[in-house]
Amino acid sequence: MPEGNVRAGFVGCGVHARETLLPAVQRAEMDLAAICDLDKRLAQRTTRRFGAFRSYQDVRTMLAEMDLDAVLVCGPPELHAEAAAIALDGGCHVWMEAPAAPTAEETLRLAELAAARGLIAQVGFAMRFAPVYRRLQEIASEEQFGEVRAIEVALWLPKMHGHDDPVLFDLPHALDLVRTLGGDVAELSVTRASDTQPLLVGLKLQSGAIASISFAAPVACPREQVTVAGTSTVAVADDRRTITVKRCGCEEISLWGAGSCRAGAGASPERLEGYLPEIEHFAAAVAGDAQPLATLQDAAAAQRLAELIATGDGGVISVG
Ligand SMILES: NC(=O)c1ccc[n+]([C@@H]2O[C@H](COP(=O)([O-])OP(=O)(O)OC[C@H]3O[C@@H](n4cnc5c(N)ncnc54)[C@H](O)[C@@H]3O)[C@@H](O)[C@H]2O)c1
Repeated sequence: MPEGNVRAGFVGCGVHARETLLPAVQRAEMDLAAICDLDKRLAQRTTRRFGAFRSYQDVRTMLAEMDLDAVLVCGPPELHAEAAAIALDGGCHVWMEAPAAPTAEETLRLAELAAARGLIAQVGFAMRFAPVYRRLQEIASEEQFGEVRAIEVALWLPKMHGHDDPVLFDLPHALDLVRTLGGDVAELSVTRASDTQPLLVGLKLQSGAIASISFAAPVACPREQVTVAGTSTVAVADDRRTITVKRCGCEEISLWGAGSCRAGAGASPERLEGYLPEIEHFAAAVAGDAQPLATLQDAAAAQRLAELIATGDGGVISVG
């Protein structure tokens, strides 16, 4: 366990890293010791901008020369597993963007490596750390909510992440959220409008609840809505900002979230979207102050479902 702040190295200085993750690392309890990118000038510029100590072009050299507790990786997907394995072999805890590896099987192999080394490996499932979904989870577990019967995740996305494969890049985030809110999946079926999108995924959960993920992209106006229905309550979260709760048999509608409410008021977009809380959680887990969440096992489970969805043709698939 590190003494003082976690000493971190960051690999990959692309748009997502510079705009969202590195500002989060600066605000979390981490000392940004080194920054690494294949592009030497970009690595140097980013090192100066975020006040890191040294810049590198190669992960192995960074690990050999710096005394790090943790490495964070955000690059092209093929980099995630490769850099994470190097960091784990070097004795560092790892946080990496999703997808952790190109396939669920490779993600599981990485999980085995982390377990063998006794190190934490967290994957970038920001949705489950977003305050609105953490609150939704709390609301759904309250006694007066009743048993969770249905979950609906609706995503209208622009083309995301510069990649064309929503099944590999975007669906695992929604699947991880369904698993976080409702538990493991027993069966699934897929309906698609065309070979690419939009698509509708129907899920039967092991609890007996049902869930759906409707996924449409590209659209001009992105939108995200998540509904959880219990036996006596329905809660709807909109755009990671608000929650509307309606209880059966009464007129009461309560709101939680940005604008009308305390919890979201004044919070930065990085906090509301879940990026800052996920990095804060990783720092706390490395420091021994929190249990690891969004593990490689979670990532492999979501990825495996996404792989089944990719090959699904309308029939019911047993997840097993
Ligand atoms: N969770 C989310 O909501 C979310 C949002 C956006 C992007 N992402 C993910 O973040 C990742 C990065 O996205 P981006 O848009 O910033 O990409 P990007 O292409 O802008 O940046 C990638 C960076 O990695 C560097 N790089 C490539 N190979 C390297 C190597 N071997 N060693 C060191 N550096 C290397 C490149 O030089 C580049 O600077 C993607 O995997 C994407 O899926 C996630």
